[in-house]
Amino acid sequence: MPAQTQSGDAVVFHENPPIRWSIVPAATGRADAIMIPLFSDQRASAIDLGGVPTEPRRQIHSTLALGDFKGKEGETYALGAGAIASGDEIRRIFLVGLGKCESLDADVVRWAGARACQYARKLELSRVLIHPGSLAKLNWSDFAADFAEGAILGGFAFKDYQTKTDENNPGDDRNNRPTSAQPKPVKIIRFDLIGPAEDPSMREKVSRRSAIAQAANYARFIACQPGNVVTPAMLVDLARNLARQCGLKITVIDARAAQRLGMGGLCAVGRGSAHPPSLILLEYAPPKTGRSASRQKTIAVVGKAVTFDTGGISIKPAADMGAMKYDKCGGAAVLGIMRAATALQLNHRLIGVIPVVENAVDAESYRPGDIVRMYNGKTVEISNTDAEGRLILADALAYTCEKYHPDALIDMATLTGGVVVALGGVYAGLMGNDDQLAADLIAAGQQTGEWLWRLPLHERYKKLLESPHADIQNSGAREAHPIQGGMFLREFLPKGTAWAHVDIAGVAHPKKEHRYWIADTANGFGVRLVIQYLLGNLPK
Ligand code: BES
Ligand code: MN
Ligand code: ZN
Repeated sequence: MPAQTQSGDAVVFHENPPIRWSIVPAATGRADAIMIPLFSDQRASAIDLGGVPTEPRRQIHSTLALGDFKGKEGETYALGAGAIASGDEIRRIFLVGLGKCESLDADVVRWAGARACQYARKLELSRVLIHPGSLAKLNWSDFAADFAEGAILGGFAFKDYQTKTDENNPGDDRNNRPTSAQPKPVKIIRFDLIGPAEDPSMREKVSRRSAIAQAANYARFIACQPGNVVTPAMLVDLARNLARQCGLKITVIDARAAQRLGMGGLCAVGRGSAHPPSLILLEYAPPKTGRSASRQKTIAVVGKAVTFDTGGISIKPAADMGAMKYDKCGGAAVLGIMRAATALQLNHRLIGVIPVVENAVDAESYRPGDIVRMYNGKTVEISNTDAEGRLILADALAYTCEKYHPDALIDMATLTGGVVVALGGVYAGLMGNDDQLAADLIAAGQQTGEWLWRLPLHERYKKLLESPHADIQNSGAREAHPIQGGMFLREFLPKGTAWAHVDIAGVAHPKKEHRYWIADTANGFGVRLVIQYLLGNLPK
């Protein structure tokens, strides 16, 4: 049963964008376009256009000779069907710039892939050939994987609520309803990479990387859903569907059970909403044939999911409050990570934990000045009901450690406005108690383009948590807010747990400033990062 909204619409993720990849030996057969990535500092004569039919090849050379296309990073140049001799098998040429050869990195390639997919989507192309140009000398299989990843991320669109209007019949004039409430069907795009067709490792690389990118898009799809659709109960349904699809074990601690267990933080935040909170626990177990059980690690990933954050009684200003539907990006990333772990059949045990609430305003809402007792027994004075994320995470972290004893624990949360001010949309804030884990995550982020900057959790910041009436308060004076968040969470970890906290408030749905080819919607920050970490950089 797909998860259903009150209006009966199902929330179902389909591959978005729907792409098929294959690797072909040459530019044969009819294609809507051929896409050629080119450097800016490459002599035209050095560009290998082997396999490109004569007419398009002539067009490319004259474009380059005229200097109409320079090959700068992200630059594109399209030659439409009309420019190419009729009868040719390739109907369009699309050039995409990679910048200087020496500064080529995975992020530039992802960007090129994004551009190509956006172009293909806009023109509704069915088959696009990707020519290696003179890249073949580089590692073509890494290029192909990065390109595929970028195409999938860059081609993501969240259009499910835009109904199809029939041009000949624009609907009922009286209420201007569209004639069909069905979302517009999207076309499958086939990308054929011209490369060594028999290279199974390349095929494998592209397919694994595509699975990770699609999992990131699945996280984005959930994160983009509005607060009236993805309520806490709906997120639980979505997690159950994922668990069923992927064969994950799922446990849901509902509001009553959470109350009984003493999860005072989760319950306090959730009290003001008509949609009660839950704690979702997902478990991925590696295949039996994997490495020996003794070498398997248990990694836990905890994600904040506030389906909508009004601020509660310490209410937020109206401007931009709608963006607080994205306050569930951490939890959505956890779902994406669990999906990718299954697709890749990772060799470690992975625990995904999502405390989910709505922070609403109501007669039952928790108030400033309230004192709540948390799952680990500590008491917290509520100085600001808008600092709700740390309260739900605190219970989730304490419970996760007690139940699973993870070798490493990573939490991700759109936690503070302060981190947006400090690092903007480019770097996420990283905090924690373990230098190795922090270094490994930073290294993983370097590879995926999800950059992390570490902030200190020095003992002296502890002063900011002091409360006159309880053990600690949830929000202190204005200073060092992202660090206050980290210091607060640290209070709920048992000694000896390697832990990292990633404050993704600035990066999870940035405006255009950073990698703008995936900005303006949720971008799935954290999915590729944690998977990269799990693939390469586990605790020793
Ligand atoms: N969800 C917000 C943090 C946030 C702010 C995310 C802006 C994305 C963009 C969080 O719950 C919050 O409201 N934090 C407040 C706490 C403060 C009022 C004590 C903040 O950081 O401003
Ligand atoms: Mn808040
Ligand atoms: Zn919040």
